[in-house]
Amino acid sequence: MVFSNAVPAIPLFFAGGEALRQRDAAFPAGRYGRTVFSYSYWGRSNIMKKGKKITILGTGNVGATIAYTLAIDGMASEILLIDINEKKAKGEAMDILQGTPFCAPTNIYAGNYEDAVQSDIVIVTVGLARKPGQSRIDLAQANVDIIKSVMPQITKFAPDAVYVVVSNPVDIITYAILKTTQLSECQVFGSGTMLDSARLRSRLAEHVGLNPKNVHAYVFGEHGDTSMIPWSLTTIAGMEMSKYCAYICDEHNRCGKEELKSIEDDVRTAGAKVIALKGATFYAVALSVRRICECILRDTDSVMTVSAMIHNQYGINDVCLSLPFVVGAQGLRRPIIPPLTQEEEALLHKSADALKEVISQLKI
Ligand SMILES: NC(=O)c1ccc[n+]([C@@H]2O[C@H](COP(=O)([O-])OP(=O)(O)OC[C@H]3O[C@@H](n4cnc5c(N)ncnc54)[C@H](O)[C@@H]3O)[C@@H](O)[C@H]2O)c1
Repeated sequence: MVFSNAVPAIPLFFAGGEALRQRDAAFPAGRYGRTVFSYSYWGRSNIMKKGKKITILGTGNVGATIAYTLAIDGMASEILLIDINEKKAKGEAMDILQGTPFCAPTNIYAGNYEDAVQSDIVIVTVGLARKPGQSRIDLAQANVDIIKSVMPQITKFAPDAVYVVVSNPVDIITYAILKTTQLSECQVFGSGTMLDSARLRSRLAEHVGLNPKNVHAYVFGEHGDTSMIPWSLTTIAGMEMSKYCAYICDEHNRCGKEELKSIEDDVRTAGAKVIALKGATFYAVALSVRRICECILRDTDSVMTVSAMIHNQYGINDVCLSLPFVVGAQGLRRPIIPPLTQEEEALLHKSADALKEVISQLKI
């Protein structure tokens, strides 16, 4: 790694476009070229730091917000942004980097696939976003095709990373990645119903007037229309929800089936409501991906509802959907298979069947 002392010491964005063009000519796109730019850009050391590296594939609403969230958190020392729209990736990297003096130092830069070498995590957000009124499944084939074109490029340079899939329909995209690459099943999983479970917890917390941290609740199955809530696993302040609501909850006279159905509907339509209001969702999903990255980089062995290849859990096979998995440094460590009621198992099968039906209609 040879770096010239001629690296400009002043922040180049003050110098305008011509200086940036000269810098790009002097330090052509490449693994080290771009990295040294980010450091020298701020007059930092030219010596590469040893730390955690996260690559984000796709720098639209979701990818850029994840990058920003991770930068604030400071858990990665290096964040690489890749997008087919190189200008967008570069602009997002510069914008976030310029704020890093106010948080933990992170080297954020835009680059190419070869820059992804030694990534600990690759976050996949490429693709088309859901438009108002459009279901996630409508997006399926278009996003599968995009994924099939980008995955060989990234896996060539980051074969050992843990891949966290966010692109929708996330269960289908996760399945397509597993079927079309050599990556192992513990190495690839989707953010799945992490977000839906968070929405459920915050909705229930609001319902019982407690902190969401005192509410344990999960959404299983598809990240989408056929998701299901295993109510029998929901606990509040360490108690089964039914007991808490019967004896303690101020709202006990409203905790009947109708109220649960309305909470379930709220959770299932939460994303669509945000899209209808502001055109996209990205803050909550970015926070859930931040949490996943934390569990991987800090090897926390946390239980999360992520979308992974299913092997005979509840008699379901050959489909990706969300169930509880233990997540640590290598990705998925093992599944957790809690007992469900017959009714809940039937709903989970319905979700798996709906996903399989979509898969059967796609060219993967
Ligand atoms: N799983 C979840 O909970 C969740 C939540 C929100 C959004 N999403 C999904 O995340 C994805 C991204 O959403 P968004 O709002 O950021 O969309 P967006 O359109 O803002 O960004 C997508 C980015 O992907 C890039 N891209 C497209 N094709 C590419 C290619 N071949 N190579 C490299 N980059 C490419 C585009 O240039 C764009 O910058 C969508 O599929 C969306 O549905 C998932």
